[in-house]
Amino acid sequence: MSDGAEAVMRPDEASFRTVLGHFATGVTIITAMDGDVPCGLAANSFTSVSMDPPLVLFCVAKDSSTWPKIRAAGSFAVNILGDDQEDICRVFATRGADRFSRIGWRASGGSSSPLLHDALAYVDCSIETEYDAGDHVVVIGRVIELGVTAKGGPLLFYRGGYGRFEA
Ligand SMILES: Cc1cc2nc3c(=O)[nH]c(=O)nc-3n(C[C@H](O)[C@H](O)[C@H](O)COP(=O)(O)O)c2cc1C
Repeated sequence: MSDGAEAVMRPDEASFRTVLGHFATGVTIITAMDGDVPCGLAANSFTSVSMDPPLVLFCVAKDSSTWPKIRAAGSFAVNILGDDQEDICRVFATRGADRFSRIGWRASGGSSSPLLHDALAYVDCSIETEYDAGDHVVVIGRVIELGVTAKGGPLLFYRGGYGRFEA
């Protein structure tokens, strides 16, 4: 079935971004402790993997400056953003930004990773394993502790823009 709008493209960077951008996702901030200093980055590659044992994953670019810190910590928290936290996402996607200057946080009970104030929910993990995958690393986390921490709708990311969920 076709409505005539299809366009077959070779997988170059532009077509990859355009086509994969049609997959709507939520937005997370992956956080960890770099010694006494919190660190984190925005990521929409988060997904659940397994219930038994409880596993999740995210993919991180090999040139990420935060990934070596998360890896050294051996644990991370996934903070699922609400639809009023677009500005937080932008800060955590900007290199050189003082990412924790505009948001409060507390240490998780499991791994002591930063849990961001007003995030919808969190998943606290230890790093189970990692897989080399092209220009990214697939990071598998074993869930230690998790919770729903705020009411409200999720922040969504679709075709390079932000939106809200409406049933
Ligand atoms: C909505 C959104 C989702 C993103 N998802 C990812 C992701 O899943 N993995 C990743 O490595 N970078 C992702 N990024 C890009 C990083 O957040 C961005 O490159 C950041 O500056 C990386 O910081 P770092 O180099 O300090 O780690 C995303 C950015 C945005 C805005």
